[in-house]
Amino acid sequence: MQVIHTIAELRARLSDERAIAFVPTMGNLHEGHLNLVRLAREHGECVVASIFVNPLQFGPNEDFDRYPRTLEADCAKLQGLADVVFAPPVNEMYPAQQTVFVEPPPIADELCGASRPGHFRGMATVVLKLLNIVQPQAALFGKKDYQQLHIIRQMVGQLNLPVRIIGGETVRAADGLALSSRNQYLSEAERGEAAFLYRALQEMRQAILQGERNFEQLQQRAVEALAASGWLVDYVVVRNQSDLQPASPVQDDLAQRELVILAAARLGNTRLLDNVEVCLVD
Ligand code: PAJ
Repeated sequence: MQVIHTIAELRARLSDERAIAFVPTMGNLHEGHLNLVRLAREHGECVVASIFVNPLQFGPNEDFDRYPRTLEADCAKLQGLADVVFAPPVNEMYPAQQTVFVEPPPIADELCGASRPGHFRGMATVVLKLLNIVQPQAALFGKKDYQQLHIIRQMVGQLNLPVRIIGGETVRAADGLALSSRNQYLSEAERGEAAFLYRALQEMRQAILQGERNFEQLQQRAVEALAASGWLVDYVVVRNQSDLQPASPVQDDLAQRELVILAAARLGNTRLLDNVEVCLVD
């Protein structure tokens, strides 16, 4: 496995590769990331992972400075899974002030975008840069960041990028908490509470599968249950998988039978995200 820090060296290393599968990350790798890297092997002959904490997608009061940077340990974990690790310094990705951006679709202003203005613009911009640098045939992203995956699919489709986007399932801890680099910000007590978010989503899923169609009430009940356990809820919503628009209780249309329940909530200073898909079949 080669660790490469510059765009020129990476391009030289990849110039003869015909089938690259690419997993972009911000490092501090856990099983969620590693699972995507393993899946990448099924989609390409040369597996490239990137590790880059992208300043463009962090707000001024967010955790860019304290985001865990663990390159050495990350490379040890990738050994035997990836062929190339691309870990550029910030001034390699942004040698001058970035003044050209990807304008993401309107959904980027909702859900996580509502409380993180500019986040998806910065994310989409760095993902486009990375796709242009690596030029993979396939790129893999986790469903854990469902809105991110949706926006990337829109960008790739509408800008005609020659890459297949593959979504990997969310990897969870034994108690159901979705793995995330940010989980390590949780205190011991908060870590004990954290899996409640997933349980609340699973309860909503069960209710929908059993015929409940009053999504507003379901959302409200989950928000109240979370708040009663000390969570500061950002959103809990039932949306269509296809466009992330609010799900209508009337489902005569196939598109509305594939739903996803999305949530973001804060425990102390840590903002956690989760979602579960719900497929209604006759
Ligand atoms: P990061 O949070 O490091 O995540 C890298 C990839 O791993 C993303 O596609 C994310 O959805 C996926 N991932 C994280 N936790 C996961 C889990 N528990 N199960 C499955 N997949 C999981 O997302 C980013 O970085 C950045 O926004 C990036 C796309 C790299 C652009 O900077």
